[in-house]
Amino acid sequence: MPVVRRFGRVAPLLGLPVVLAGCVTDGPRSMLHPIGEIAQQQMDLFMWTFWLSIAVLVLVVGVLIFAIIRFRKQPTGDKDAIPNQVHGSVPLEIAWTIIPVVIVILVAVPTVRAIFDTEVRVTPQEEDLIVKVTGYQWWWRMEYPELGVVTANELHMPVGSRLILDLDSADVLHSFWVPKLAGKRDMIPNQDNQLWFTANEPGIYYGHCAELCLGAHAYMRFRVIVEEQEDFDAWVASFQQAGQQAASETQPVQDSQLVEQGRALFAQKGCIGCHTVEGYAQGYSTGNPDYPNLTNFGLRVTVGAGVLENTPENLAKWIRDPQAVKPGNYMPTLWSEDDPNAEEEAAAIAAFLLTLGNEGQEPQAQADARGGSNGDR
Ligand code: CUA
Repeated sequence: MPVVRRFGRVAPLLGLPVVLAGCVTDGPRSMLHPIGEIAQQQMDLFMWTFWLSIAVLVLVVGVLIFAIIRFRKQPTGDKDAIPNQVHGSVPLEIAWTIIPVVIVILVAVPTVRAIFDTEVRVTPQEEDLIVKVTGYQWWWRMEYPELGVVTANELHMPVGSRLILDLDSADVLHSFWVPKLAGKRDMIPNQDNQLWFTANEPGIYYGHCAELCLGAHAYMRFRVIVEEQEDFDAWVASFQQAGQQAASETQPVQDSQLVEQGRALFAQKGCIGCHTVEGYAQGYSTGNPDYPNLTNFGLRVTVGAGVLENTPENLAKWIRDPQAVKPGNYMPTLWSEDDPNAEEEAAAIAAFLLTLGNEGQEPQAQADARGGSNGDR
């Protein structure tokens, strides 16, 4: 049964197409579907080396197969005859020295060029957007110093513009990675690393920490929201309004009882000790810059640094028991296991947070403003 046994050895390979069919090139975290200039250049470089490797593979395997077939038998029929000896052949030595050198040059020249094009520190131009991104275990602080915007875990940028990121870390090493927009860049305390990229299609792009930073590393995610200029301007304006609202005397709208309860609990439960909310209450100073800023939280698309979609249910679940959603994170659990009010109070705080940035709107309009999950790329 040698044929059957031999077939048994290669049979698993027949399953390979099925397994490979599971690979998609445009998944949410695929670098094979570039959306910006930098990602495109890195992708082009990858494809160039890929096809070059295929050419080498085809050539080598072709010669091998030719040799196996062509020289199966000694032409003389003498099994013990010694083949032609080519040791020290000058033409051969020159050929197999030059060919690899040429291949290395073909890879090295575009690689070095791409490094200089994409890794260079750029001088900000007037139309560039500058963002200071600081990695924390396990979330992202995002600050637009020129626009007075401080937020967390979600970057906004207008389509077609260039974003220049100053990358820093508040604790251990992290790495900033949005596969569809640019390659990874480490975030190292006091290192002042920079990254820049452009995006030429509106959408919501997935980002991830790409450096093992212990604990909840796998849940250290973020989103880049690429939108039309007017939507970006409206987003920025909503932050500037939130700040002004703090200075104004009047409460802008009448909220539902649940929202009012949530607003009160946000202080009573101590949330204000860590989380800044611009305009939370007159004369109140809230929060600590080393914790996620929740100003305009209702405009966010995710909860817990990209872990859950930002819906009332998910947000309440996160507030009620953060460890169940994202094991290892530093947010305290505010209720004891058997507290009968826990669910209701968590839902109230969630309802309050979801109004931030959406003041006076109906809940459905709030969800639409966040974009839901339809725009995910
Ligand atoms: Cu931050 Cu991994």
